[in-house]
Amino acid sequence: MSRLIVASNRVTDIDKAVQSGGLAVALEDALQRGRGLWFGWDGTTVDEDASLGIKLQQHNGIRTATIPLTRRDYEEYYLGFSNRALWPTFHYRLDLAHFEHAFLEGYRRVNQRLAQSLAALIEPDDLIWVHDYHLIPLAEELRQQGVKERIGFFLHIPFPSPDFFSAIPDHAWLAEVMFAYDVAGFQTTSDAANFIRYVVENAGGEALGDDRVRAYGKTIIARAFPIGIDPDSVFEMAHTPEADAHMARLQRRSMANMFVLGVDRLDYTKGLPGRMRAFRRLLELYPDLRKRVTMMQIAPPTREEVEAYTDIRQELEGLSGSINGEFGDFDWTPVRYIHRAIPRATLAALFRASQAGLVTPLRDGMNLVAKEYVASQDPEDPGVLVLSKFAGAAEDLVEAIPVNPYDTDEVAVALHTALTMPVAERRERYESLIVRVRKNNVTRWRETFLEALRSAPVERAS
Ligand code: G6P
Repeated sequence: MSRLIVASNRVTDIDKAVQSGGLAVALEDALQRGRGLWFGWDGTTVDEDASLGIKLQQHNGIRTATIPLTRRDYEEYYLGFSNRALWPTFHYRLDLAHFEHAFLEGYRRVNQRLAQSLAALIEPDDLIWVHDYHLIPLAEELRQQGVKERIGFFLHIPFPSPDFFSAIPDHAWLAEVMFAYDVAGFQTTSDAANFIRYVVENAGGEALGDDRVRAYGKTIIARAFPIGIDPDSVFEMAHTPEADAHMARLQRRSMANMFVLGVDRLDYTKGLPGRMRAFRRLLELYPDLRKRVTMMQIAPPTREEVEAYTDIRQELEGLSGSINGEFGDFDWTPVRYIHRAIPRATLAALFRASQAGLVTPLRDGMNLVAKEYVASQDPEDPGVLVLSKFAGAAEDLVEAIPVNPYDTDEVAVALHTALTMPVAERRERYESLIVRVRKNNVTRWRETFLEALRSAPVERAS
């Protein structure tokens, strides 16, 4: 069996990462069984003249190979090109995008250096799986180092429509380096279609059918592989004695008997201010809900060195304060806003305890909170998911209540529908949703991607 090598920008502490979910959970099993290696940045920054040597470690049967970034790399590659240029553009926020030549240089330099370190660790027949927007040129750089093995790429965030993609000053280069992969994976069929459309319209590419696309003299597979979760482990977490205790505590401490819950990194793509405005609108439109419902928003900090993230924090704090000032009473706080990370098991208990889950990003690759929300529910008395039509998850979770996150009134009305929905309809929706969450789970995501990579036709001379 070939070894699996995973490359991602962040290689978090495996022990911690497994508790907090994400990529580590998704790949843990495959890395353990396949004598695999997880390669990337160790999350630290060092001085320019410090050694950038590779660190090899083993945790939970998973081998990691990590390197630090210099402060300059961090500024230009991570904060700069990845998070000030690609992240906003791929999420349709050109108003927040900054393109600087130094950012691009840093992005290319770091990808080149990562490729040099990784190439030395690759053995014949390894399968290499590269993740996310930080590492788009990694395969091209690995090819320059002589790597002939199969390399796949999975984009966790949306791939924007060609108009947006071509606003990036170096879009032609960024599209061309995608063709150094054998398989390019996307979250949804519309992301894959956007990529193919860009290549056809801007690079004389040709869609050959069966998700194959040819351009720049190469043929690759560009296909949707929607990422999922491990629904059984989430259900178990939501139904432990500790989870019961969390739920009881929550109910005892509050006068309101209904909870609306949102959990998101504090990112401008998540639509948090709009969600708060919709909650305010709910209280205006349906005064009988006052004192009966509380909105809890858990929004851990993220990328705070990028200005747009400071702005969103201020906006959200202002909004929650003003709603509480306007509507709150000595015995009821309408909005509870928590700017901290909460352990995954507690989150699962909160998902289960809430009557509605609000997942209203302005744009999102997939959004696994939506899937975890469904997986945490009590099948006899499930909560209702209100889901943005601009989240990748909406392509599959069609029994959620769909909303346009830009339409405050629509979200407020959807929330009211969720909070007043009879139990029979809640169960019916839940039963359809849980089937989908179970079917498109994380194991299926991983196995279908790896199978596509193993069987992709390869033109290179080996
Ligand atoms: C998104 C991205 C991931 C990223 C995560 C956290 O989910 O798709 O690649 O790791 O956000 O962001 P951070 O910048 O802290 O790694």
